[in-house]
Amino acid sequence: MVSPMARVPVVGGNWKMNLARSAARDLLTTLRGTLDGLEGVGVLLFPPAPWLGDAHDVLEGSSLRVGAQNAYWEQKGAFTGEVGPAMLQGTATHVLVGHSERRILFGETVWETGQKMRAVCAAGLTPVLAVGEPLSDRRSGRTEAGLRRQLTEGMRGITSMPEGFIVAYEPVWAIGTGEAATPEDAQARCKFLRGLIAERYGDDAGEAVRIQYGGSVNAENAASFFAQPDIDGALVGGASLDADAFAAICRAAAAS
Ligand code: 13P
Repeated sequence: MVSPMARVPVVGGNWKMNLARSAARDLLTTLRGTLDGLEGVGVLLFPPAPWLGDAHDVLEGSSLRVGAQNAYWEQKGAFTGEVGPAMLQGTATHVLVGHSERRILFGETVWETGQKMRAVCAAGLTPVLAVGEPLSDRRSGRTEAGLRRQLTEGMRGITSMPEGFIVAYEPVWAIGTGEAATPEDAQARCKFLRGLIAERYGDDAGEAVRIQYGGSVNAENAASFFAQPDIDGALVGGASLDADAFAAICRAAAAS
């Protein structure tokens, strides 16, 4: 049985569709300088796809890891514009799947999310499954049903929990709005998600899975989330583009 104390928090920087190549390289170099070797936290950067190779090169040999923001569910073939998970091997270690911007802006269904999860696992990469909470679910008291569906469909066909698996709970209404969830609210959702993982993969898996909170996390509020027992880090959007803010969030996680 893995003790909850053994969970090392992980902070992800989701750059989304931001930063020109030179700015991306500068940020990678700065973050390596400030965060390499920081103990007590995993640091994961999700640059835009064209800069993944640069990220790999700049961060090689450091403790920082590279993730892709998305991938297709076929490994190769005639799928113009898509990137297969197998093509990321050697460049990225993680792949973000099911971010609410993919679900909402690009119409990604829970079935597609499941397809992607299986393809990422098949390629030997570590998935970070993002599950959202639309305001409509929240207002109608359907949050838990919605999270259950996203998790169940996302994990369909995956019979044991992927090594290093991370779930990111991101309420849609908190993303990019400056209006973060309260730590207590986020804790309740993350605890619920941990219970779903335990239900599906057993208690040890429930204790081992790392669950991030995402949505307007910044240097000022980060520690209040990390103080919660079921929140194991953060998935950070806007503040991850600012080296000082992102480093402060990573340090807060390391200190938690
Ligand atoms: P913000 O931190 O900008 O709210 O974005 C959160 C997010 O979507 C991370 O994936």
